[in-house]
Order: sequence, then C-alpha cells, then structure tokens
Amino acid sequence: MIFSAKQKEYIREAKSVWNFKIGSVRSGKTYLDTNYVIPANIRERAKKGGGVFILGVTESTIERNVLMPMRAIYGDKLVGYIKQHNEVELFGETCYAFGMEKETQLSKLQGASAKYVYRDEVAKWHQEAFLVLVSRLDKPYSRFDGSLNPESPYHYLKEFIDKDASIYRQHYRIEDNPFLDIEVKERIKRQYS
Ligand SMILES: Nc1ncnc2c1ncn2[C@@H]1O[C@H](COP(=O)(O)OP(=O)(O)OP(=O)(O)O)[C@@H](O)[C@H]1O
Ligand SMILES: [Mg+2]
Repeated sequence: MIFSAKQKEYIREAKSVWNFKIGSVRSGKTYLDTNYVIPANIRERAKKGGGVFILGVTESTIERNVLMPMRAIYGDKLVGYIKQHNEVELFGETCYAFGMEKETQLSKLQGASAKYVYRDEVAKWHQEAFLVLVSRLDKPYSRFDGSLNPESPYHYLKEFIDKDASIYRQHYRIEDNPFLDIEVKERIKRQYS
C-alpha cells in the first residue's frame, strides 16, 4: 500500500485520544482510514476491554463509505456486514455500527465504554451524540478518529472536548492527494472556488 506524505504524517503523528483530519473533498482522508487507520486501531486493541463503534450518518452510509471499501481490501472474513442489534464483525472482533440519524440510537451508547470510535463526516453530528461520546472514551487507551470538511464547525466540537484533552488535528488540501487525476482535481477546485 502506498500513502501520500500527508497520510504518512497522520500514521506517524496521530496518537492522541481525539484525532481529526480536516480538509477538502477527495483529499485522501477516508482512503487512509479504510486502508490503514481503522484496521490498525481495532487490531491494536484486540482483547482489551471496551467496545468498538463505527459511527456514521446512517447505517447505509457506513456500509457504503467505510465497510464496503474496507471489505474490498481485506475480504468479507475480516470485514462483515451490519447485522441485527447493530453488530458487525471487524478483524475478529464484534463491533457496533450506528447511524446517528435517530436520537434513539444514542441510548445504545449510554453505559458503554469505548476503546475505539471511528466517525466519518463528523460535522453532521447532533450535539447530544457528541456529548454521549465524550464520556464514553474512558479507557487509558481509548481513541477517536474522525474526519470533517473545512467548512464544518470544528470549534463547535472543540467546546465539548475537555480543554486539557489530547487532540491531534491535520489539515488536508486537494493538492495533498497525489493519486487524484489532474483533471478531477481541476474540476473539483472549480466547483469549490
Ligand atoms: N494512498 C492512496 N493510494 C491510492 N489512491 C488514493 C490514495 N489516497 C487517496 N486515493 C484516491 O483518492 C480518492 C479520494 O480519496 P478519499 O475518498 O480518501 O478522499 P476524502 O478526503 O475522504 O474525500 P471526501 O471528503 O469527499 O470524503 C480515493 O477515491 C482514491 O481513489
Ligand atoms: Mg471521505
């Protein structure tokens, strides 16, 4: 697997409890997560206490954006499908996948301790969901990885994280993705300028 300089920097330096990739569309955030960040972090915490939670806007966006690309690389023995009770087998561990579209989903996180939480598209979060999550990352080895677009209100999220909490932030521009076609890059730049 080949990673961009930005992606390598994240692998090397994102060692905080809260790890955010902030940046433009198509800049290589999710690719890094599905190829490396999620598998590595679940495996590192195998057999340790606490749950693994994969969060997304809906269960089907989790399947499409996260599980499907990961399954394409690692196969369906290591990356399962979301079953009843939100369970999904990932790298030998029973994990939980939640769409946050319904507030009722939040109650399922209540009382649970989390060793690893992954969240694509952080910005579309309810404030309450975020608060529940903050209190769940309660193990010395608990970790959160998430990505958001630059127009997303990061400072709003920050208000809810403890002032002294360990946070790593990395910014991505479309230029940081050397794997994208020049034409695609130009088209996206025009769209967003
Ligand atoms: N290390 C890599 N090797 C090969 N291709 C890559 C790599 N990183 C990114 N890409 C390519 O760039 C495309 C865009 O990357 P990715 O989907 O990770 O962007 P993103 O930052 O998550 O964008 P969005 O904000 O739109 O979700 C991917 O579909 C993939 O084809
Ligand atoms: Mg993405």
